[in-house]
Amino acid sequence: MSEFAYRDGILCAEEVPLTRIAEAVGTPFYCYSTQALTRRYGAFAEAFRGLEATVCFALKANSNLAVVRTLAALGAGADVVSGGELRQALAAGVPPAKIVFSGVGKMDAEIRAALEAGILQINVESVAELAEVDAIAASLGLRAPVALRINPDVDANTHAKIATGKSENKFGIDLGHAGEAFARAAALANIELTGIAVHIGSQLTELRPFRSAFGRVAGLVAALRDDGIEIRRLDLGGGLGIAYERETPPEPAEYAAMVAEVFGALGCELILEPGRCLVGSAGVLVTRVVRVKEGISHRFVVVDAGMNDLLRPALYDAYHGIEPVAEPAPEAALTPAEVVGPVCETADTFASERPLPPLAPGELLAVESAGAYGAVMASSYNTRPPAPEVMVRGAEFAVIRPRASLEDLLARDRLPDWLAGEEAAVRLRKA
Ligand code: LLP
Repeated sequence: MSEFAYRDGILCAEEVPLTRIAEAVGTPFYCYSTQALTRRYGAFAEAFRGLEATVCFALKANSNLAVVRTLAALGAGADVVSGGELRQALAAGVPPAKIVFSGVGKMDAEIRAALEAGILQINVESVAELAEVDAIAASLGLRAPVALRINPDVDANTHAKIATGKSENKFGIDLGHAGEAFARAAALANIELTGIAVHIGSQLTELRPFRSAFGRVAGLVAALRDDGIEIRRLDLGGGLGIAYERETPPEPAEYAAMVAEVFGALGCELILEPGRCLVGSAGVLVTRVVRVKEGISHRFVVVDAGMNDLLRPALYDAYHGIEPVAEPAPEAALTPAEVVGPVCETADTFASERPLPPLAPGELLAVESAGAYGAVMASSYNTRPPAPEVMVRGAEFAVIRPRASLEDLLARDRLPDWLAGEEAAVRLRKA
């Protein structure tokens, strides 16, 4: 079941035709379905019911205030990786007691803000960071709840740019150094050691790598307990993949069953940090065909969204389904197309050799599964204001981030004294 389906020949988000939103806000735009968010969150939370688990939505996947608030209203906590995401989670109404702070480069001011807010836990990634958190907590006169993130050295079997659990990746404390680091944490006056955190990568489509990483975590819990270090909470990170093309990632229930099997006997509280699997399939990027260029070897369908709006294909060679918003006739011939954006880079390609029906300028296309790591990774490259965001609920829709105007974009720059004013203008004219 998808919340994006054809109704009377037009692709709709729930009950709203995407053509209607395009008329109202122009193109390109992101569109999210409340029902899809609700359904995905519900399936995930339901799978972990009975396991004493807190589901902390990874804001990095989509930090739009309305998206975070929708999930928070359903009971989600938040996994944040910056002071900005922390502010956003709090603004969206996520209770501090359901916020975890991850990341390899937390800065002092961010650690301070997290401690002052009274969040559930900071996931510390190195011994150096541990000492900093201890000192900041001491200066605030409190004890910082801390889990240590370990690097289990497992191959997540995902794209190299989104794998995090091998020892050569920058993340976490090597398993070999874990004993020492935990002993250190347990001895620090202003650290309240809560547990272990792990995250091995994103867009995992099988359980095997999770299982081997989690097996190592369970082994570590036992070893630490033998040394008298109590571990009461395990943060298992995110990483559950979604079906972009023909992948068949595990369902949340299968994932939860495996987690229960590995950790059930340890009596630990759990934290999960899903991002992509809650929001990925809940969003599309709608773009308009600017023109069609028949090259010698290819049919180029040039659209008005670019890699500045959706970077995943350019950065990770990621596959995204592409559907015409006007339902093609059943007999329409599908021929290969290069769907490309207007940005001056060959990497600005959304799809290559993609079978698509005939397309004419002005037609709308929906780029599927764009709800995660889409809008959040947008930029203004080529001085293009990134696509706005819209949320649908039933038959209504609302703009949840308007399109920045060119004026907004250009007004961010400033001239230094030596380039401003009449004198500089004269110099420039002479040059
Ligand atoms: N927790 C931690 C510590 C993480 O680093 C991440 C993702 C997550 C949770 C959420 O993972 P998810 O459930 O979404 O897989 N931009 C890339 C993905 C980068 C993921 C980074 N970390 C992409 O577009 O595929």
